[in-house]
Amino acid sequence: MSFRIQPQAPARPNRCQLFGPGSRPAIFEKMATSTADVINLDLEDSVAPDDKDTARKNIIQAIGDIDWGNKYLSVRINGLDTPYWYRDVVDLLEQAGERLDQIMIPKVGNASDIYAVDALATAVEAAKGRKKTISFEVIIESAAGIAHVEEIAASSPRLHAMSLGAADFAASMGMQTTGIGGTQENYYMLHDSAKHWSDPWHWAQAAIVAACRTHGVLPVDGPFGDFSDDEGYRAQARRSATLGMVGKWAIHPKQIALANEVFTPSEEQVTEAREILDAMEKAKANGEGATVYKGRLVDIASIKQAEVIVRQAEMIAG
Ligand code: COA
Ligand code: MG
Repeated sequence: MSFRIQPQAPARPNRCQLFGPGSRPAIFEKMATSTADVINLDLEDSVAPDDKDTARKNIIQAIGDIDWGNKYLSVRINGLDTPYWYRDVVDLLEQAGERLDQIMIPKVGNASDIYAVDALATAVEAAKGRKKTISFEVIIESAAGIAHVEEIAASSPRLHAMSLGAADFAASMGMQTTGIGGTQENYYMLHDSAKHWSDPWHWAQAAIVAACRTHGVLPVDGPFGDFSDDEGYRAQARRSATLGMVGKWAIHPKQIALANEVFTPSEEQVTEAREILDAMEKAKANGEGATVYKGRLVDIASIKQAEVIVRQAEMIAG
């Protein structure tokens, strides 16, 4: 219980974040005309060390030259444990145009990491007289990141979104897998000699959703590596949506439609949510706090659940 009202996360669609290496400018135009809500141009792990300078220049030029439509435009900088990140921030904020919306900070371990980037970004924005305050998004992908997830979610008013990065997370946790997200062969329960696969990402996702919802940040599911496995992607995305996440990364264009499909409430879901709201209106008019809808209980909490779906659908439609 708390008398404090839970803050709302930024009201913009974030169903799919499409990634592309900054060292591969030939795909930027394709990214811009895709149906992803968010574009993540990468300076970090998809760019080889020798290509960092060129990738930075490519991205700065493309931010100005390409028509990004109404996409939310984000650049993933290098981690704070590298010699590259300060140059990423300084060059982007000194040289990229106002079209840039957001910086993604990978491998965050605690709130001080965000404080450091915030201090640098604030100084460069002031020095250059930038009108738009750049927002931040972070990746939780280490043991430290998940251990400090709530202080990270609370770290800065710039923070819009937080993703789970399954590959680095698994490595940092010492997990025995090379898979990027999805079902893990060896993570199962036995019942009557039958295997039942469980979800090793569940607790980290739930921790991220709780931290994000407490502090008004968008919780996002990260990459699914096997882009030949559509059903595996769908299953992972459906679990994430059910837990409260608003979207998922695409590391190949064929994953965009899958994310949009799963993270857009279906017509049936929206119709049912509206019917529940109608049923509760009628109940209220009769002085009742609870009623029956299709043979099951709905009450005042059901209004809030239905409103989540209706609000999401209206925001996406708008
Ligand atoms: N965004 C937009 N278009 C892309 C794309 C992307 N991320 N990746 C590939 N394409 C395009 C290709 O240019 C090709 O276009 P064409 O049909 O006009 O020739 C088409 O989609 C099919 O590409 P395909 O041949 O299947 O893939 P590829 O071998 O060129 O690239 C990857 C595969 C995985 C290397 C590439 O998708 C990629 O770099 N993904 C992002 C990686 C990344 O950013 N990782 C960091 C976050 S984890
Ligand atoms: Mg990573």
